[in-house]
Amino acid sequence: MTAPLAELHCHLEGAMPVAMARELAAREGIAIEDAIAGERYRWNGFTGFLETYDRIAALLRRPEDYRALAHAVLGSIARQGAIYAELTVSPDHARRSGLDPLAYLGAVAAGAHEAERRHGITARLTVVGVRHFGVEAVEAAARLAATAAEPLVTGFGLAGDERVGRAADFAHAFGIARDAGLGLTAHAGEFAGAAAVDETLDALGVSRIGHGVRAVEDRRVVERLAREGVTLEVCPGSNVALGVFSPEDHPLRALREAGVRVTVSTDDPPFFGTDLAAEYAFARTRGLDPVMLTRQAIEAAFVDEPTRQRLLEKLALAALRLGAPPATR
Ligand code: ADE
Ligand code: ZN
Repeated sequence: MTAPLAELHCHLEGAMPVAMARELAAREGIAIEDAIAGERYRWNGFTGFLETYDRIAALLRRPEDYRALAHAVLGSIARQGAIYAELTVSPDHARRSGLDPLAYLGAVAAGAHEAERRHGITARLTVVGVRHFGVEAVEAAARLAATAAEPLVTGFGLAGDERVGRAADFAHAFGIARDAGLGLTAHAGEFAGAAAVDETLDALGVSRIGHGVRAVEDRRVVERLAREGVTLEVCPGSNVALGVFSPEDHPLRALREAGVRVTVSTDDPPFFGTDLAAEYAFARTRGLDPVMLTRQAIEAAFVDEPTRQRLLEKLALAALRLGAPPATR
């Protein structure tokens, strides 16, 4: 028996299994083989990754595709031992496929409920705006998240090319999401340095940062993360595949030792040749305890308090069975 796992940062579109991409491509008459290598997607550099990501997402054309994808992705995460997962969902990608964004969210939620029924995993959805699609698109995504009235949508975030624009450009979008009571997260400190993490905290008031690993380049930013209790959604496999860090130099352990709240996630598993079990295994090689990682994830999850308590109790019970030491924080 292993400790229960949890992840906070998995892009739904970016988690599409290669087999499903092949099926959809055949149905739509779209050539996709040049973007596939074995069980993984093939891409070159961060810009090439984002382009391939858009191509793969564009294969999804019907609400049913999204329902099936959400069910498959959450089922796979549950089979690896996860009790909780947050899927990042991008209505702009759905809209580009000609789908109504509300129908898209409804279909994803239906797949998540089905996964909960069949696999016992608790799931929530974080709507993201895509930075390189522009400020107006991100604000529209925030309005959608705020008004969707879909109970599984509990968070709002910012993904995409961090090198485009400044965090402050997106402050209005985050204000809309904050006023709606959504949890807030943003990708930062992945392809931009520590200053981007600082700016994102100042401008967007997020409680979590997607990646955030390059904060390690500035001791003051690391101290701020620790002091303010910000949780990092660290995706080591993604960072290594995209060349942000080598496995040897990855700062997961250093950040934890500096008192930063860290969790591990997959980001876009078939793009990076990873899965949640592999991310936890990597963390273990760095001396990080899986129970601690899952606890930090649940503590930072965008869920109501009764759900958080229920998940923490489930974790505590499993930890007791494993003979793990009691929680220290
Ligand atoms: N969208 C999907 N994966 C991403 C990543 N690693 N960085 C920025 N945007 C993304
Ligand atoms: Zn991401």
